[in-house]
Amino acid sequence: MSLHPATPDLIAEGARILRAGGLVAFPTETVYGLGADATQPNAVARIFEAKGRPAFNPLIIHLGQAEWVADFAEPDDRFHELARTFWPGPLSLVLNQKSKSPIAQLATAGLKTVAVRCPMGAVANALLNSAGRPLAAPSANRSGSISPTLAEHVADSLGNKVDLILDGGPCSIGLESTVLDLTTPEAVILRPGAITSEQIDAVIGPVTTAASAAHKPKSPGQMLSHYAPILPLRLNATTAAAGEAFLGFGPTVGATLNLSESGDLSQAAKNLFAMMRSLDDPRRFNAIAVAPVPETGVGAAINDRLRRAAFQ
Ligand code: TXA
Ligand code: MG
Repeated sequence: MSLHPATPDLIAEGARILRAGGLVAFPTETVYGLGADATQPNAVARIFEAKGRPAFNPLIIHLGQAEWVADFAEPDDRFHELARTFWPGPLSLVLNQKSKSPIAQLATAGLKTVAVRCPMGAVANALLNSAGRPLAAPSANRSGSISPTLAEHVADSLGNKVDLILDGGPCSIGLESTVLDLTTPEAVILRPGAITSEQIDAVIGPVTTAASAAHKPKSPGQMLSHYAPILPLRLNATTAAAGEAFLGFGPTVGATLNLSESGDLSQAAKNLFAMMRSLDDPRRFNAIAVAPVPETGVGAAINDRLRRAAFQ
């Protein structure tokens, strides 16, 4: 599949494809998404097929405007506060669905709840509003592999399975959205992301973070083995052994690549998946050693992804 810059004409073409039940990969501020009209069961089924995604793992529903949520879910006060503060942006909110919801059941894996988010970024926003439909959009990669932060990553893993890839260059954040469950009295972070628990706490009060290694994750996609590179990953490494690639952070001596030489966590998040992909080359290395990344701010989300990638 050839890549096309996301011009207004091509975005309009993408919207037509989506309304006709097709698949369009598009850039968001987090990672590239594989979009389909969330109200068309056949279109949603094509997402699961293209990704090789297990049917029990629900999709995030993307909105052009926060108001669309009222068509199919039951927003509460916390939702309104959070949406006002962080949308458009990298925060997905899990809500109870209305009993008569137009969202395809497969999109929510048959759950009574639904995750929604309003992505930031001109291309995603224009595509959603031009399609005028909520879009189910998981990360545009094969299930279990590393999420795409460039259009080329999408073409490499799903190129022949999508009808159009809109190229909007590199994603500005580089890690998937924070997923926050609002269906319980105390909100729970199911997946850490660029919007941190401290930021959420400041808006709606205390939140907890779901134990990431739980055997029965509430976010069915939060299985431990995820983002799996071909090579084994060794975390908190201070030096690389013979044959290892060394992914540095901060002033790391002998790094093959460095997430951020200045130790900037946002820059590290943006670089993480592309650098993991480029080091994941068994012809050059036998493992990837990764320097320690602090657990503060978006570092918690970076370490979450690294732990999943390292889990065998
Ligand atoms: O940043 C993102 O969120 C990207 C971009 C494309 O928007 N999308 C993304 O989608 O990462 P995906 O499908 O790769 O991850 C969705 C996560 C999974 O862990 C899934 O289990 C969880 O959200 N999820 C979706 N609906 C849920 C629900 N109703 N309850 C609990 N978890 C849910
Ligand atoms: Mg994903």
